[in-house]
Amino acid sequence: MKTVDTINELRQQIANWRQQGLKIAFVPTMGNLHDGHISLIKQAHKHADKVVSSIFVNPMQFGVNEDIDNYPRTMAADIKKLTAANTNLLFTPTPDIIYPKGLDNQTCVDVPNVSNGYCGESRPGHFRGVATIVCKLFNLVQPDVACFGLKDYQQLQVIETMVEDLSMAIEIIPVATMREPSGLAMSSRNNYLTAAEKTIAANLNKTMLWVAEQLTSNTNFNELSAKAAQMINAHGMKTDYLHICHAKTLNPAQSKDKHLVILAAAHCGKARLIDNITVNL
Ligand code: PAF
Repeated sequence: MKTVDTINELRQQIANWRQQGLKIAFVPTMGNLHDGHISLIKQAHKHADKVVSSIFVNPMQFGVNEDIDNYPRTMAADIKKLTAANTNLLFTPTPDIIYPKGLDNQTCVDVPNVSNGYCGESRPGHFRGVATIVCKLFNLVQPDVACFGLKDYQQLQVIETMVEDLSMAIEIIPVATMREPSGLAMSSRNNYLTAAEKTIAANLNKTMLWVAEQLTSNTNFNELSAKAAQMINAHGMKTDYLHICHAKTLNPAQSKDKHLVILAAAHCGKARLIDNITVNL
C-alpha cells in the first residue's frame, strides 16, 4: 500500500489510475481501525479496481466539549490492517493541509433537515464538520463509489443527501454494522469501555431489538421510546436519546410509515455509544 500525505501526490496517483480507465472506491476514516472499517474496505474492493482510504481526525466535527486530543491515534497498527486488506492508497493529511486558512475561515457544507435532531442536537456543528470534510475528500479523491457504515445512520443520511443535493457523481454504498458476539456495535469508542462496561453496553442493542419486536404489534412510538430509554438507564447507562423515525427523512415516525429506523445514543462509562435498527413493517 502506498501512503501519501500531500494533495499533489494524491492527485498524481488518482490521475494515473484515471488515465488507465480504472474505477476508484473510497473509504474515509478517522483511524483507530477495527473490523467494521475493514469490512468497508472489503466492500469497496467489490465495487472498484482501486481502493483509496484516508485517515484524518477531523477537528471540524468535534464539539468544544469533545476531547479531540485524546481521540485514539494508532497509525502504525492502522497501516498494517489496511495493508492486509489490500488497500491500494492511503491519504494521511495533517489539519494544515486540509484547512490551510484555519477552521474559522473554511467554506462549509450544511445539509439541512437530516442534520437536525438526534446526534445533530447533542453534538452541535458535528454534521457540518462531517459534510465539509467528506465533500473536501470527495473533491480530492474523486471516487466513483464511497463506502460508509450503517452504524452511523444519521451520518449516512447526511452524506447521501449532500451527494444528491450537490449533484456529485459518486455512488454511496451503505455497509452493514459489524457487531461483537454480544451484539455491541463495533466502534472506535468501545476502546473507552472496561470489560464490565462492555457487558453493560451490549444492553443498548438488546433493548433496541426489543423495541423492533414490539413495533410489529405496538405503534405507540412515544410510549415505546420512553420505556426503552428507562430500560437502558436501568442497565447502568444514561440514555442520550432513543427515537423511532422515518428511515429516510429521519422525521419522528408516524403511524402510516412503513420504513422505520430506531436511533439511539447512550453514555456508558467514558463512551458515548450510538446504534440503530431499521424496521420494515
Ligand atoms: O465516520 C467517520 O469516521 C467520520 O465521520 C468520517 C466519515 C471519516 C469523516 O471524518
